[in-house]
Amino acid sequence: MHDRILITQAGLAERTRKSRWPARLDLLQSATGLLLALFLCGHLFFDSSILIGKDAMWVVSKFYEGYFFFGKAHPWLVSLVAGLLFVVFMAHALLALRKFPVNYRQYRTIRAHVRAMRHGDTRLWLWQVYSGFLLFFFGAAHLYQMAFWPQLIGPHASSDRIWSDALWPFYLILLTVAVLHAAIGLYRLALKWGWPRFSRPVLKFLRGTLFAFFLTLGLLALAQYMWIGLLHSDHYGERYTPSWAAPETQTAQGETP
Ligand code: HEM
Repeated sequence: MHDRILITQAGLAERTRKSRWPARLDLLQSATGLLLALFLCGHLFFDSSILIGKDAMWVVSKFYEGYFFFGKAHPWLVSLVAGLLFVVFMAHALLALRKFPVNYRQYRTIRAHVRAMRHGDTRLWLWQVYSGFLLFFFGAAHLYQMAFWPQLIGPHASSDRIWSDALWPFYLILLTVAVLHAAIGLYRLALKWGWPRFSRPVLKFLRGTLFAFFLTLGLLALAQYMWIGLLHSDHYGERYTPSWAAPETQTAQGETP
């Protein structure tokens, strides 16, 4: 009787139709995940321009600051993109929270299921939870830094950050976790929505290839930033400008007025 009153008071008794919201939220979660995964792939290509050389990375970073359109660098453009990405990132995290185990008991239950079922894709789901959890912290910290100090991006500024400011362990974790999360996420998206319509073994192969390719690319780029940072450590804070480009006035912190 008491339960019935509660149900009526909560307005649940009038619910005749099943809600479409869970499906809509699922779609939104997939869409934000796809956007972030595609961004990461593009981002790792741009980031690894450092493998071609300092000039290539300088061109890429200045391109995003609008230097080649306005004749002057506007780092706030990078802040704008980082801010927008932060919104997508938070939306994706919020939607994912719906499916996280909310207490230790639930966590133990899912672990027990995974062990009992011995089903690879179910195990992968748990990996998605672990890597997603780490991204709450590592992804957010990185976006925060890029949004508030966009002027500190460049062949020397980035290398100084990675080597002299000792952020390479941070990037090592961010890289591994982000690439893992994106590769598993894209695989799960393909299975869920049926596109691209490949067989499961083919999708598994693509997942492994994506993971290995972007992890290797990222690791090579990270090693290059570390190497440049090491060689540049005596000149920490000095910015890089190619000899053919107009020199920009800079403060010791690398700010471009
Ligand atoms: C507009 C937003 C972003 C900007 C401007 C940006 C910029 C950069 C830059 C310049 C680096 C080189 C290291 C440094 O200078 O500190 C870097 C590294 C990295 N970023 Fe981002 N990033 C953005 C968003 C993201 C997001 C959303 C992710 C994924 C969660 C991500 C993942 C990474 C990873 C994994 C690395 C390390 C790459 C490597 O070690 O080779 N970034 N990012």
